[in-house]
Amino acid sequence: MEILKQLESIAKRAEEEIGRSTSLKELEELRIKYLGRKSEMTGILKKLGELPPEIRPRVGKVTNEVKEKISNLLRKKNEELSNQIFKTLGESERIDITEPGNVPEIGHLHPITQMRMEMEDIFTSMGFTIVSGPEVETDYYNFEALNIPQDHPARDLQDTIWTTDGNLLRTHTSCVQVRTMEKLKPPIRIVAPGRVFRYEQTDASHEHTFYQIEGLMVDRGISVANLIAVMKTVLKEAFHQEIKVRLRPGYFPFVEPGFELDINCFLCNGSGCTVCKHTGWNEMLGCGLVHPNVLRAGNIDPEEYSGFAFGMGLDRLVMMKYGIDDIRLFHSGDLRFLTQF
Ligand code: DAH
Repeated sequence: MEILKQLESIAKRAEEEIGRSTSLKELEELRIKYLGRKSEMTGILKKLGELPPEIRPRVGKVTNEVKEKISNLLRKKNEELSNQIFKTLGESERIDITEPGNVPEIGHLHPITQMRMEMEDIFTSMGFTIVSGPEVETDYYNFEALNIPQDHPARDLQDTIWTTDGNLLRTHTSCVQVRTMEKLKPPIRIVAPGRVFRYEQTDASHEHTFYQIEGLMVDRGISVANLIAVMKTVLKEAFHQEIKVRLRPGYFPFVEPGFELDINCFLCNGSGCTVCKHTGWNEMLGCGLVHPNVLRAGNIDPEEYSGFAFGMGLDRLVMMKYGIDDIRLFHSGDLRFLTQF
């Protein structure tokens, strides 16, 4: 049969030409030539209907077989040529699509910010409100209203950065105390976290810029017992463990009595390490009962109300929590340090 011979010849020629082809481009041309819309094969298929019905099924079957054979030859040759190309590519030009992609680096909050948020959560859970005050302050709120008059020697305790217009960068968050009392009536329960500044030579434990969190509670009958209870709860929550506290007398003009509160060094369990300078205790914060003069500055009658206040260093808190022994690391921008948190 003429037509079957023709098909056989197509298959033979295709096999030879595909076998000889050396490029993917050539291969694509052969695909069009043998299987394309204008190919001999398509011509045969189109004429299938004109054939006598008794040979039609046989021709149809052989046509399909030849088509499939050519498709397979093309696919195999394509694979072969692609592999050859891949082998000749330089290492850098190859793409391994099974390799995991580059994962973009995601940053995280600074350890001090994390600590600030944690403290805010603890205090709000105890009914405290978070407030804030300006970083550029007046002499009045930073000193005067806090019972530190112009010629008071306590001004020497803090080295201040003054602005040319006679204001200053707040040396502590205590300024927020009187600002708050001016606005709120007792009962008052606030904490004020924020950045503070000192004119300071930096070393492992001193920075010119650092963070504090101030606390103030004013109501009828507030005593040192309330102060201790709140501090113990807060510190236990902050360090996720039971801690021992001790109060030492401390002088701050805005409280009377004033205390320094220490906690046991849980990094060495009291046996002595660099963080506690081998004393077994760490100075944690300053606190006391709000001085009557300060209450008066805030328009609160000291005969009727009393309160406690405290101020702690957020940097110190983080340092103690992780055993960091140099405060300067916080602002160093050193990623080897920061990525650890
Ligand atoms: N303002 C003090 C400082 O920066 C810390 C302080 C001490 C705050 C006693 C207080 C306090 O509220 O009662 O060193």
